[in-house]
Amino acid sequence: LDIASSNATFIMVVGGLGYIGSHTVLELLKENYNVLIIDDLSNSYESVLHRIRTLAMEHFKTVHKPMPAIHFRQLDYRSSRMRTVLEEYSSYSVIETTARFPYSSLQRTDSGIELEAEVEQVGLVHRTSRISGVIHFAAYKSVEESIRMPLKYYSNNVCGLVDFLGLLEEFNIKNFVFSSSATVYGEKANCGVPLREEHCVHHHETFYDHEGNEQQALPGAIGLTSPYGRSKFMCESILADIARSDPSWSITALRYFNPVGCHESGLLGEDPRQKPSNLIPVVATVLTGVKPALDVFGTDWNTPDGTAVRDFIHVVDLARGHIAALAASAAGRVKSAFRTYNLGTGRGHTVREVVNSLEATAQRKIPVREAARRDGDVGFCVAEVRRAEVELQWKAEKTLADCSRDVWNFTKARCNPRVPDEMVP
Ligand code: NAD
Ligand code: WQD
Repeated sequence: LDIASSNATFIMVVGGLGYIGSHTVLELLKENYNVLIIDDLSNSYESVLHRIRTLAMEHFKTVHKPMPAIHFRQLDYRSSRMRTVLEEYSSYSVIETTARFPYSSLQRTDSGIELEAEVEQVGLVHRTSRISGVIHFAAYKSVEESIRMPLKYYSNNVCGLVDFLGLLEEFNIKNFVFSSSATVYGEKANCGVPLREEHCVHHHETFYDHEGNEQQALPGAIGLTSPYGRSKFMCESILADIARSDPSWSITALRYFNPVGCHESGLLGEDPRQKPSNLIPVVATVLTGVKPALDVFGTDWNTPDGTAVRDFIHVVDLARGHIAALAASAAGRVKSAFRTYNLGTGRGHTVREVVNSLEATAQRKIPVREAARRDGDVGFCVAEVRRAEVELQWKAEKTLADCSRDVWNFTKARCNPRVPDEMVP
């Protein structure tokens, strides 16, 4: 697709080759959005791009429609080259011209005075961005590493975002979807009821509690146990402040609960360069025999089987949540210039239930060792999903069994890839 000669618009997906980004890019293509991916491959591989293309091509072949464009720039989103990319994805039109006389000479003749001039046209140029929206996934995400290397996290997740927003403002790109996290609820998660967006707000917000009484949500967060968690809270606060200063922004901060699962083909999934520490990727290493047993952190939580409860959401449902956010923003359903949404299922499962589900799918035993609670963990973290259901018109559809089936499929495919990367166009 020739950017200069067409009127096509793009969604810019920053961090689009990572775990959640790659699934979202595929869903965007399926919904006919042209996509521009920015990723520095710090936690992903270029082969993911080929895999997204393969799946999108399969889809468009089946529906007999042309495939939208998918562009990729390997770039740190903090690099000065981002400006060049944004210039490239802009169109320019002359909105006003005036004549200027850089050279002229007066000649006195019999009939009066004649002006000899070389006229130069000067004009006012209007720049329009071809980027109609941004989905921002790029961040470092290891809780444990963030405690050891906080500056690495604040630099990428917070400082990077501040500079990036300044650039977007310059190009008048104000439609922004941000990857936030249930981590912003900190210790409020331990309150034992599904978390509502008002449990963490950035300005005073009125809401109704479970008895229907009007309450004031106080700004701030409590018990954020890691620099990673704080970086997400800070990013949200920055976004809320921008929206307050300039309500022409449309910013949705999507608070993911526990993203799991992968594309049903087994071609896309969670494949980080970093050593995995989240439950399901760790279980996958036990299933493949790389790790001898799963350490279950904490068996003394106040939950039905003593192990922690989480709201596990299938990554394809999550990906669709981003498209719902773009659509809701375009349709004016997002209530304010900055709005937060929980993306979860509204249902909790214990760690033990996850292990059982994967054992049943894989028909393999997962050896477990009971271990002490992990530092900073909470016992219960489940989403109240009403706001996303009403305003984004989005709802998670897949079950824990779907997650297990797809993860197992992906785990097997990694050992025996269906499409070797070098054979993909
Ligand atoms: P991921 O590491 O798989 O994906 C992030 C992508 O961003 C990677 O491809 C990485 O190479 C890229 N990236 C990182 N820094 C970059 C930079 N400076 N410039 C360009 N590209 C850069 O992570 P993910 O699980 O897909 O998470 C995506 C987002 O969602 C992150 O912001 C994360 O904090 C947030 N989030 C993730 C989870 C989760 O459990 N996976 C939960 C809540 C929120
Ligand atoms: C889930 C449960 C563990 C591994 C983290 C981040 C959060 C968000 C999502 C980005 C917990 C237990 C795990 C293992 C185990 N990320 N567990 N043995 O901690 O809920 O959330 O990822 O924003 O910010 O904190 O997810 O998958 O690590 O753990 O027993 O080897 O599984 O203790 O109870 P968590 P998780």
